[in-house]
Amino acid sequence: MARKQHMHEVCAIILAAGEGTRMRSRLTKVLHPLLGRPMISYPVELCLGLGVKRILVVVGPQANAVKDVLAGRSVEFVHQAGPRGTAHAVLQTETALAGFGGTVLVLAGDTPLLQAETVGGLLEAHHAARAVATILTARVDNPTGYGRILRDRRGRLMRIVEEVEATAKERAVSEINAGCYCFAGPALFPALKQVKASRVKGEFFLPKVVETLLRRRRVQTFRATDPVEVLGINARAELAAASGVLRQRVTQRLMNAGVTLLDPAATYIDGTVEVGPDTIIYPGVILQGATTIGKGCVIYGHCRIQDARLADNVTILDGSVIRESEVAEGCVVGPYAHLRPQSRLRPKAKVGNFCEVKKAVIGAGSKVPHLAYIGDATLGERVNIGAGTITCNYDGFAKHETIIEDEVFVGSNTNLVAPVTVGRGAIVAAGSTITEAVPPDAVAFGRASQVNKEGRAGATRKKRQAMAPPESDED
Ligand code: UD1
Ligand code: CA
Repeated sequence: MARKQHMHEVCAIILAAGEGTRMRSRLTKVLHPLLGRPMISYPVELCLGLGVKRILVVVGPQANAVKDVLAGRSVEFVHQAGPRGTAHAVLQTETALAGFGGTVLVLAGDTPLLQAETVGGLLEAHHAARAVATILTARVDNPTGYGRILRDRRGRLMRIVEEVEATAKERAVSEINAGCYCFAGPALFPALKQVKASRVKGEFFLPKVVETLLRRRRVQTFRATDPVEVLGINARAELAAASGVLRQRVTQRLMNAGVTLLDPAATYIDGTVEVGPDTIIYPGVILQGATTIGKGCVIYGHCRIQDARLADNVTILDGSVIRESEVAEGCVVGPYAHLRPQSRLRPKAKVGNFCEVKKAVIGAGSKVPHLAYIGDATLGERVNIGAGTITCNYDGFAKHETIIEDEVFVGSNTNLVAPVTVGRGAIVAAGSTITEAVPPDAVAFGRASQVNKEGRAGATRKKRQAMAPPESDED
């Protein structure tokens, strides 16, 4: 759980002004989505959870887009002109933080796996030691790309060397800088100004500030217990790895709460989704956004459910897509059904094979079992819709509504040309095109009547045979 830091005032700086070149993307790095949320929202939520006093986000490329995704969050924005390095980025907050005597927590916008416990521990260690700086580090199997923590023979921190400037021997060090730091506010900005540009890259590196600070006072390190938390995302492969870890956290939480996942690694569930106990989820299922799923449901393979509410004991058969809809208790949907926004299935309704429903109510116990399109419609209870039935809701200019009252039976392959109402208990003959209201209890025939010509089939067949070309082997 997030620990609030009551004793010491903390302001956070989140660095999000880098170019993210290694992503090879038109989208700025911190806006790349990770399990349904932009990367930048992870450190922001972390800081909000820790109860820090102020959050300053340093923005650069696509600043407005970054501001948009954080709209409604209580954060401030500081601009950095041109990515000139992480030290330069922090320096841009000097005016905003003028006179602040507390602790400055610096986080990277590209390190989304950090947990509140770890950063809370870092802050506690910083305050307990009254250090001028505390650096979050980790021991990793592959330190490539990270700044290395260099210590003297007695294990005391000496400096941090960036990969680009490191010797082969320094590169062999497996303790890395996580890019997350605590600084004593008053000491930070004067020290930053003494950082010189890297001879290799021309940028001002924040980890260099350690050397200046060490000359004056105590700088310490705090090691993360789980090295996975410090994963920095620079390229797409790390984005995929981070997404895997985040998914694992979600699936673990759901399994602990009584959800069966047949193959957790093949299940894609956003952190915002809630699932009730004894629900069974098959591989390839994607659950997104503000989706809630009740108890005892079964979601078969390769379904995608986004911003939808499913009550208890719902079955979603293979390959179905449900968006912004409500599915009540005991309903069965699919296989291969598509519930588009504003669909509402009342208890025990059924929408089956290859059906599309949009902005429609399917009443309790009603069935739309095969190959139908129901749009802008309200169906009462115990209605049966035959295969191939279409609500013709669009006349090329506007959308119109179809109302089908309780216990109506609509025969297969019917066109219901909206606006139209079919009264309670009525029957519509198969193949009808219904353009006018059907009164309650009526049987409507909206099709041409059939003509049978006795004996004509044999004559027709003979005529065809006489005209046929010689048979060939091909078919
Ligand atoms: C940085 C650290 C490295 C550490 C690693 C941890 C430096 C110089 N190096 O390396 O020691 O091991 O993080 O993941 O700090 N940013 C700006 N403005 C800039 C440059 C970067 O705001 O001018 C932001 C980026 O958007 C990013 C963060 O700072 O969120 C880190 O920058 P990045 O270029 O990814 O640094 P690394 O090379 O990963
Ligand atoms: Ca990085």
